[in-house]
Amino acid sequence: MCEKKLVDKIAIVTGAAQGIGKAIALNLAKEGAKICLWDINLEEAEKTNEEIHQLSNVETLVSKVDITNYSEVEENVKKVLDKFFRIDILVNNAGIARDNLILRMSEEEWNQVLDVNLKGVFNCIKVASRTMIKQHYGKIVNIASVVGLIGNIGQANYAASKGGVIALTKTCAREFASRGINVNAIAPGFIKTVMTEKLDEKIKQNLLNQIPLGRLGEPEEVAKLVLFLVSEEANYITGQVISIDGGMHM
Ligand code: NAI
Repeated sequence: MCEKKLVDKIAIVTGAAQGIGKAIALNLAKEGAKICLWDINLEEAEKTNEEIHQLSNVETLVSKVDITNYSEVEENVKKVLDKFFRIDILVNNAGIARDNLILRMSEEEWNQVLDVNLKGVFNCIKVASRTMIKQHYGKIVNIASVVGLIGNIGQANYAASKGGVIALTKTCAREFASRGINVNAIAPGFIKTVMTEKLDEKIKQNLLNQIPLGRLGEPEEVAKLVLFLVSEEANYITGQVISIDGGMHM
């Protein structure tokens, strides 16, 4: 029988209610990790939790957490520790987009995206890393984007936030390396989620023309990469940005 890779590991996944975060939560649970599902959308997060229990008997904790709120993050890390006593894995996946050309972009659109995508990641790392440092063990994976590497018209706020996540990843990797904590980022290209489903056919075709592999990625493909990075097989990998984009960024 094939041994599960993450038995008894405690994982927090932000934005776990749907899309890529849901695929990540399901995949980590399949490997035996106990999952803390954090999202602002509690109703959807509960549904993901039910799906987890249909395929695995791991313990879970579902919480309504707004990652932009530092004290809410602190309170919820405390709840995780009260229940599970450790935090082995943190996947910073929650993210939003508010697209507009920079000339039309409002201050609010800029602030909202930076608040969730960058400050939210800082809040979660800042609080969870205290425990990881004490344990001398931790795996942090931040979901960035290809756009954070190459930019994108209409996404100044989003691209800046994801570029920031990449710089934050590298800095944390250096600061935490001697504390037994690995910190890496994943830069997905276009992945099949609610966000990309809504795109106009013409825009979709345009997108496909930029992808050498000629298709969008699946959330499960990103989830498999997360699993690798949080597993013992990736112990010597830190401070890296791994692209999963069908060849968009080479
Ligand atoms: P999604 O919109 O389907 O899911 C994001 C989840 O984050 C939602 O459940 C939402 O409720 C939650 N969330 C939003 N704000 C939050 C907050 N303040 N606190 C806690 N949870 C919050 O998005 P998707 O497509 O699954 O993306 C997941 C991550 O992957 C994001 O960081 C996104 O930027 C990134 N990404 C997505 C790509 C795609 O093509 N779908 C491509 C590259 C990166």
